[in-house]
Amino acid sequence: MGKGSGYGKVILFGEHFVVHGIPGIVSAIDSSTDAIVTKAAKGLNIKDERKTSKGYGEEKRLQQIESIERMLKAMKLDPKTPLDIWIGGSLPGFSGLGASAASSVAIARAINEELNLGLGNDQINAIAYEGEKAYAGNPSGIDNTAATYGGLMWFKKNPAGGQDLVERVRIKRPVEVVIGSTGKTANTKAMVEGVADRRKANPAKYDPLFKQAESLAFAGRKALEVGDLKKVGDLMNENHRILQEIGVSSKELDQLVEIARKQGAFGAKLTGGGGGGCMVALTGGNEVSGKVVGAFKGAGFGYLMTKIGVVTY
Ligand code: MEV
Repeated sequence: MGKGSGYGKVILFGEHFVVHGIPGIVSAIDSSTDAIVTKAAKGLNIKDERKTSKGYGEEKRLQQIESIERMLKAMKLDPKTPLDIWIGGSLPGFSGLGASAASSVAIARAINEELNLGLGNDQINAIAYEGEKAYAGNPSGIDNTAATYGGLMWFKKNPAGGQDLVERVRIKRPVEVVIGSTGKTANTKAMVEGVADRRKANPAKYDPLFKQAESLAFAGRKALEVGDLKKVGDLMNENHRILQEIGVSSKELDQLVEIARKQGAFGAKLTGGGGGGCMVALTGGNEVSGKVVGAFKGAGFGYLMTKIGVVTY
């Protein structure tokens, strides 16, 4: 029996833009997906016991099988290797929290242990990236990197396909955030493709937005490092606006963002692929977190109270 885990994450700056080589800032959260893998007599038998939003399991089932086969191939194993795989853990299967990447990392680690492959973190990360392709089509690698190593990081994809730039972002203390869930499962692959298509069709609109996203990531890093939460929040709000402009927000995401700001959050934005899924509100403390959670509950939305910048490495 092999066991493994992978962290969930929130993206504070730069989702979608990171796919195109713009830097992003991501933080692992203290919820993870766990996997247990055992050699089987035949077939791929998946028992997925994660708590999920409605329809998540069905929407992702085929992508999950493809993802595991891709990872087995990346490990130079037969993609049809018979395995029993159990998936669970504290990270809910909500779109936007890196649940697919967390499960890929957890499964890759569990296979590694069960089959004594001797793989290290860098190899697990590269294998999970192959698995992520099934879910995101052309992923940046930000989710699997956060899921593998944890912590708060600056991530810039190398568009030429070489080594990505990954740097630790140091902050004075872990900062409270609340994640709000629309309860709607989103197809990350379709969201990523949609942005790429619209950018191609309308560079005059999109190129300046990509430039703005880049400036926001740099300003966001600086504000995080000096602990200026008001500034981080303002920049997150600005980031949400440009995500609206590239067409990845939704009515429910905008509603959650509005609620969080009204309850006193420093800032709020959608997080991850959008089109449903989750948003993140920077509250900076338990009092505001409590108010935001109360208002989310009152409006019928799911939530998760957590922190960014928890050192997990
Ligand atoms: C998904 O969490 C983040 C996206 O930018 C896709 C990716 O970077 O792979 C939408």
